Amino acid sequence: NLLVFPSFKQEEKEQSLSIPQTTIRIFYGSQTGNAEELAKRMGRKLQSVNFPVTVMDLADYKKVDLTKESYALFCVSTFGEGEPPDNAREFWEFLSSPEAPRLENLKYALLALGDSAYPDFCQAGKNIDKRLEELGAQRIFPRIDCDVDYEESATKWIENVFEILPRTLQLPTQEDSLIRELKEESPKILTFQQTLSPKIPHPPHTKQNPFPSRVLENRRLTLMGSEKETRHIELSLEGSELCYLPGDAVGIYPTNWPVLVQEIIETLGYTGEEIVPTPNGENVPLREALYRYYEINSILDDFPKKGIGAVELVKNLRSLSPRYYSIASSPKVYEMEIHLTVVVVRYIQHGRWRRGVCSNFLAEATPKVPIPIFIRPNPNFRLPSDPSTPIIMIGPGTGVAPFRAFLQERAATGAKGKNWLFFGEQHRSTDFFYQEELENYLKEGILTHLDTAFSRDQSYKIYVQHRMLEKAQDIWSWLQEGAYIYVCGDAHRMAKDVDIALHQICETAGGLSKEKAQEYIQNLRSSKRYLRDVY
Ligand code: 2AM
Repeated sequence: NLLVFPSFKQEEKEQSLSIPQTTIRIFYGSQTGNAEELAKRMGRKLQSVNFPVTVMDLADYKKVDLTKESYALFCVSTFGEGEPPDNAREFWEFLSSPEAPRLENLKYALLALGDSAYPDFCQAGKNIDKRLEELGAQRIFPRIDCDVDYEESATKWIENVFEILPRTLQLPTQEDSLIRELKEESPKILTFQQTLSPKIPHPPHTKQNPFPSRVLENRRLTLMGSEKETRHIELSLEGSELCYLPGDAVGIYPTNWPVLVQEIIETLGYTGEEIVPTPNGENVPLREALYRYYEINSILDDFPKKGIGAVELVKNLRSLSPRYYSIASSPKVYEMEIHLTVVVVRYIQHGRWRRGVCSNFLAEATPKVPIPIFIRPNPNFRLPSDPSTPIIMIGPGTGVAPFRAFLQERAATGAKGKNWLFFGEQHRSTDFFYQEELENYLKEGILTHLDTAFSRDQSYKIYVQHRMLEKAQDIWSWLQEGAYIYVCGDAHRMAKDVDIALHQICETAGGLSKEKAQEYIQNLRSSKRYLRDVY
């Protein structure tokens, strides 16, 4: 996954003495694609002003000798509990080991991405930044820790870093052209093909300009008596040029619950008509701002008293970010539709109803209200390019979504590879969503195996990883045949436990020592055969 930007022509090279002879490496550690997209954006910009630059997946760090590198920019996200993304794990092990080489030649800057709603905010980025410094690398610009609404702060950071790059490289300043270029390129979400081929024009509907899609279907998957409300939602792409691949996610801009907006206005003593700025600087009534533009779920915990001015209030709020859902359909079957599997989040905390903003917005969506969407490609979660490669999919709960897309795709294309799905939920009778479809795939031979773990149908818990351990020998044989293994769903507990189970399988069924099992799984990861879409 080494993206080398074409170098300029030889005669140009000789003429332009201002061009640094050293290559700037831009490394990304990315789980869902945001850090990757930022890194590639930086790469395009530096390339456009003739900096020799390569954008590299951190999984490929071995392809260069870091001790000999002069300039590196890092974009690193964090997921799970302060962990590095899967593609950065090996790099972090290398960097954090006592044997790591000194990096005195290296000048670097690091941009961290994270989500402040979780503990250990941006921890992976913080760790790498600190360790690079310990190893003697010279930080040329302070790290930035970006939250989910990272666009503005990340763009500013990139501008600042670019401003000092020419100085660091002791070149005549190129700031002006660089910064202008950077500002001109509004961030774009590209389809997978477009990320590979920057020449294709960008689609008009992006994160900045979402497509107003229409709901085609909105039905409950879990049956009466279930403790959960999980829904199947179909959105129309008719009228857009959006396209997607199995594995991609869709970004959705929700609006807030009008009941909560009203409660906030009343509790804090406003009328709702006060004019306040939106995050983009437009002026709108407070009611509209709270409904459409700001995160308000914790506002009554954070601002419990009357007296704060409406303008001051919104200045203290985060802008409402899009939420991402793994797409549950294949464009080979539903070219103009996107299907979603959504669990509706509702619970009581401190005596107050808490509602997941987007899942409730979607649960109540009707064909009359447009849903603003855009595609977020996930190039790190793709079916194998060889259709005969076997795949093992672990997807409890809504984690099954991308696997429904994978199965549709493999059925539609007549892919010969074997498919194995592990699905888990609370109860078979109420929570076995997509049961009929999955059982049909089994009958037709599209699914070779379907293993289910209904955790609460007996007095003790049975989870997907227990089913995996029961089938350890077969999983090991599939892996020996070159199978890819995919995990989608909860990052905090499930994906960790599944990872532990996978190590056990390599030890028990594969007869590997603990160390060899770790090595084997690291190899799976670096050869992109162990892929996770976890959140
Ligand atoms: P539980 O709610 O009964 O604990 C989808 O949410 C399914 O994942 C549920 O059956 C849930 O079980 C289960 N689950 C919860 N924790 C898990 C874990 N650590 N590993 C795997 N599955 C888990």
